[in-house]
Amino acid sequence: TDSAAPGGDSDAGPKALDELVVGFAQVGAESGWRTANTKDIQSAFADAGIELKFSDAQQKQENQIKAIRSYIQQGVDYIAFSPVVETGWDAVLNEAKAAGIPVVLTDRAVDSQDESLYVSFLGSDFILEGEKAGQWLLDEYADTSEPVNIVQLEGTTGAAPAIDRAEGFAEKIAENDNFQVIASQTGDFTRAGGKQVMEAFLKSNPDIDVVYAHNDDMGLGAIEAIEAAGLTPGEDIKIITVDAVKDGMQALADGKINFIVECSPLLGDQLVDIIKTLNDGGTVEKRIVTEETTFTQEQAIEALPDRQY
Ligand code: AHR
Repeated sequence: TDSAAPGGDSDAGPKALDELVVGFAQVGAESGWRTANTKDIQSAFADAGIELKFSDAQQKQENQIKAIRSYIQQGVDYIAFSPVVETGWDAVLNEAKAAGIPVVLTDRAVDSQDESLYVSFLGSDFILEGEKAGQWLLDEYADTSEPVNIVQLEGTTGAAPAIDRAEGFAEKIAENDNFQVIASQTGDFTRAGGKQVMEAFLKSNPDIDVVYAHNDDMGLGAIEAIEAAGLTPGEDIKIITVDAVKDGMQALADGKINFIVECSPLLGDQLVDIIKTLNDGGTVEKRIVTEETTFTQEQAIEALPDRQY
């Protein structure tokens, strides 16, 4: 695309890598996925010898906006961030644009209509992830003529992965009239949130067949609630999650989770490549989609020994 502006003083050509400064505004530390993502980004920049200023917004948009404004004030060369929610970014992105600082979105999208506000969006196709979860369920219950009662543990309200994973899943399961989402509530992508919401679901719904959790952590919280209620996760209630972090994969290997859709947190090297390309005056793709797979129990057992995060 033509929207990629080179960093620094364009007359002076590319900056040396050890002169570049990148500001990264992270969502928080809500999940195992997020911790792995932070670690991967920090080590990729350290390996590349590029200075990274890092901030943790504790899942609050106002904190992220503050961090971005402070990066603008400090005159960093590039800003990258993973937006907590989709809406409400135009003002601060316009400020970055006015300051001539290119912005890269990682992991999550914004809903801005003006695509000139960011150079590139690097991350997963969350709708596809939801579809993969739904497809597994369609296959798993292909021979059932009984109703299948599903409860959904949603991610952070307004976040791209929560919106898109719900949408992709709903579209898929609509292909079979037996499927019904009987309850759906946010667990904010945390283990504690997943546990608490699942406890409430179990109290008000005696007949839950399936949990669809928007991430592993909420699924792991749900497992605790299901076991505390005297039921067997993976058998009495089937569980599908998204991410495939180590703890999730272990639960899948143990038969407590039944299927995981992968969402890769390893975005660091690709983000560094984008920054280097822009610094060299090159252009980058507007949308870079992360490659991902899915895991059954057997596949989790096989993959676990080499799992990095
Ligand atoms: O945006 C990616 C999502 O955010 C991950 O699936 C979830 O675990 C994290 O908190």
